Amino acid sequence: MGSGHGTELNLTLKVWRQKNTKASGSFETHQLTGISTDMSFLEMFDVLNEKLISEGKEAIAFDHDCREGICGMCSMYINGRPHGPKQGVTTCQLHMRSFKNGDTIVVEPWRSAAFPVIKDLAVDRGAFDRIIASGGYISVNTGNAQDANNILIPKPDADDAFAAAACIGCGACVALVKMDLLCYSFQQKFLS
Ligand code: FES
Repeated sequence: MGSGHGTELNLTLKVWRQKNTKASGSFETHQLTGISTDMSFLEMFDVLNEKLISEGKEAIAFDHDCREGICGMCSMYINGRPHGPKQGVTTCQLHMRSFKNGDTIVVEPWRSAAFPVIKDLAVDRGAFDRIIASGGYISVNTGNAQDANNILIPKPDADDAFAAAACIGCGACVALVKMDLLCYSFQQKFLS
């Protein structure tokens, strides 16, 4: 993985390590050098894990799947915020250019009683998946689709539909707030 023309960062990472759900975890500090600003946050984690493995240590467990901002699996708390510093950007879409040389980055799992830690940064999303399963999807026979321009959609409905589409089911709102204060996109998609 070349650094191309991007700048390189030297970083201190404080990462939550926890052996299992019952263990009490703690932060582990790691130094990384030469991290390209072109890397995604998860690629930076891959580099860290390769380093740990080469040192005979255990890789850090974390959730991810699509790495394209679609599945909502890449749940990390970065510097006290779900998905890090950028609004509306998932961890896998966060790039290292959002950080500065010499930064200390604190990475924790999704902090919520609803999401017990399985290991390190990986959490059990079962409670959340059950909400989605119970109200998330409907199956309707819509017949032949009308030409979209023939259907007038009131603005509030269009806005609600957009908000629902914007929710990727990542659970940040669940981790961040109480269940009765779920983000609007989530409510539109799964609870309305
Ligand atoms: S890994 Fe799928 S949204 Fe980040």
